[in-house]
Amino acid sequence: MARKFGDLIRETRTRLGIGIRRFADEIGVDRSYVSAVETGKKPPSDDFITRTAAALGFEVEALRTAAGRLPGDVMRVLEEQPEELVALVREHFGTYGEDLLPTSQLALPDVAPSPVAVANVPPTVQIIKYMGSKREIIAFVVDGIRSVLPEGGTLLDVFAGTNSVGFALRQSHRIFATDIQEYSTAIGRALLRSSASLPSPDELWAELEPHAHENQARLLEYVGDLVERESDLLSTDEITPEVMARYAEFQHQWPHMGNLAEANGDHPAPLFRKWIERRQQDCRLTPYALFVMYFACAYFSLAQCIWVDSIRYAIDRAFDPDDHLYWISLASLLHACSYCTPGPGHFAQFRALNGSAGSQDIMRYRNRSIRGYLREKYAELSQHLTRPVYENRAWTADYREVLTPPVLRNIDGVYADPPYSFVHYSRFYHVLETLVRYDYPESQYYGRYRGDRHQSDFCIRTKVADAFDDLARPVSAGRLPLVISYSDTGMIKLDEIVAICRNRYAPGGGSVEVCEQDYLHCTMGRRGDKTRQVTEHLVICRPG
Ligand SMILES: C[S@@+](CC[C@H](N)C(=O)[O-])C[C@H]1O[C@@H](n2cnc3c(N)ncnc32)[C@H](O)[C@@H]1O
Repeated sequence: MARKFGDLIRETRTRLGIGIRRFADEIGVDRSYVSAVETGKKPPSDDFITRTAAALGFEVEALRTAAGRLPGDVMRVLEEQPEELVALVREHFGTYGEDLLPTSQLALPDVAPSPVAVANVPPTVQIIKYMGSKREIIAFVVDGIRSVLPEGGTLLDVFAGTNSVGFALRQSHRIFATDIQEYSTAIGRALLRSSASLPSPDELWAELEPHAHENQARLLEYVGDLVERESDLLSTDEITPEVMARYAEFQHQWPHMGNLAEANGDHPAPLFRKWIERRQQDCRLTPYALFVMYFACAYFSLAQCIWVDSIRYAIDRAFDPDDHLYWISLASLLHACSYCTPGPGHFAQFRALNGSAGSQDIMRYRNRSIRGYLREKYAELSQHLTRPVYENRAWTADYREVLTPPVLRNIDGVYADPPYSFVHYSRFYHVLETLVRYDYPESQYYGRYRGDRHQSDFCIRTKVADAFDDLARPVSAGRLPLVISYSDTGMIKLDEIVAICRNRYAPGGGSVEVCEQDYLHCTMGRRGDKTRQVTEHLVICRPG
C-alpha cells in the first residue's frame, strides 16, 4: 500500500507539472522525505498527507485512505473495490462528493446563504466556494475592523477574494476592494455596487436569451451531433457499467487546447485548431467557444460548456461593463460554474471517471443546469443589491501596487486577508479567472492551467516574512490602522507577524494587539465529531 500511495503522489504531481523539489518546498518538507515516501521507503506522516492533499487537490480523507489508514478488513475491500467503499462512506455520512473535503481551508460546505442582516449579524452571501472565505466568521472579522474604523470610514480590502468582508460592511463603510485575481474583481463589482432597481429574473433572462441562443445555435452547427451523443449517455435512467464505459470513451476522445497538436479522429480537432488560432488574435470572435475547447469533458459536460460560452457571449452583448447588470450576471455565471463542477468547487484538477460510484457522482453533476444555477443566484442577488451603498470600488492589482501614497491618502484603514497556505489561488481557481478574462490563454498540464498563473509570495516559505513587511511598512507609514486575518495553520508563525508589525508600528507610538477566535469548523460529519477546532486570528495594528 505504501508503494501504491507513493506512485499516486508521484504520478499526480508529474501530471500537474510539479517537480519534486518544488513540491517539497510547497509542502514544507525535505526533498529526500518526499522521495522516500514516493518510493515506499517511508510511510507518510499525517501532516504530509494533509499538506499533500491541499497541494495536489485531493480530498484529504481519500488520500488518508490511499495511505492505508484503515483496519485490515476494510483495507482488503478498499484494494478490491475502492470506489465502492468511498461510495458507501459517502452514502452513510454525506450526500455527495463535495461533502468529503480536505483540510480546514478547503472544507467548503454547500450551505444555504443568508444574505439578510439579522439583528447584529452582518449580511453574507455566497457566490463561489472559496478556500479562506471569511463568510463563516464574518462577525469576528467585522468586529475587529469596526474597533479601529468608525462608521463612514473608507476601508481598503487588499485580498478581497469573494468580497465577503466588503459585502458585510458595505452599508456602513465605503469599500475599496482589490485582489490579484480578476474573478474577485468581478464579484466585487457585483456585490459592492447597488442599483436603484433591478430586473426580475425573467426580465434578465429575456435580455440574455436571444444572444445566448444565437451563440448556442452556431456552436451546435459544428458539434450538435456530439452534444446529442453526450446527452443520450447522460440522460439514461440507469447508469450501467456499459454506459459509463461509453461515456468515458466519449470524454477521452474530446480534444482540448492542451492536446490539439496531436488530437485527430472524427472529433473536431481541426476546427478547434483554426478557431483557437484566430481567437488568440481577437478573443471576442464569434461564436464564443472557449469553454468548449478548454474545459469540456473535464470540469464540465460539453452541453454545460456550450451554455457557459453562450451566456458569457450574451452578457457581453446585452450589457456594457459600466452597467451593474454586467457584473451581477457575470457573478451569477461564476456561481453556476463553481456549483456545477463535480467536487469541492476548486479546479486544481478534475475528477477522473474511476469506478462506479465516482462516475455516477460525476455524471450527476454533468446534468446540473448552468442556466438554472445562474438564474437562482441572480434571483437572490437582485433582492439585495438595490439598497443604496457608498461609492465603492473594486479593481485588480497586486497589493504592493495598491499600498501607495495616493491610495493611502484616500482611505482610513486596511484589511488584509492574505493566503495562508502554500496553495496558489491562481492554480485552484484558474477556470473562473479564464471565464472572466475570456482570453484563450495557454493551457498547461492535466489541470489545464493558465500559462500566466500568479505565484503569491505569501505561499512561499522563503518569501512570506518579506511579504508581510511589504504590507505593514506602507500602511504604518501612512499612519493608518491595519487589521490582518491569519490562522494557526499558516506559512509563518503568528509571533513573527506580530514582530514584523510591532517593528513598523511601535516606533511611531502605535500598538499591536492579537484577537483570537476558536471556531468549530464544519467537517460534514467526516470525523465523527462533525466539527473541528480552528483558531483564526486578527492582528490589529493601531498607529500612534
Ligand atoms: C484568504 S483569500 C481572501 C479571502 C477573502 N477575505 C474572502 O473572504 O473571500 C486570499 C486572497 O489573496 C489573493 N492574493 C494572493 N496574492 C495576492 C497578491 N500578491 N496581491 C493581491 N491579492 C493576492 C488571492 O487571489 C485570494 O483571493
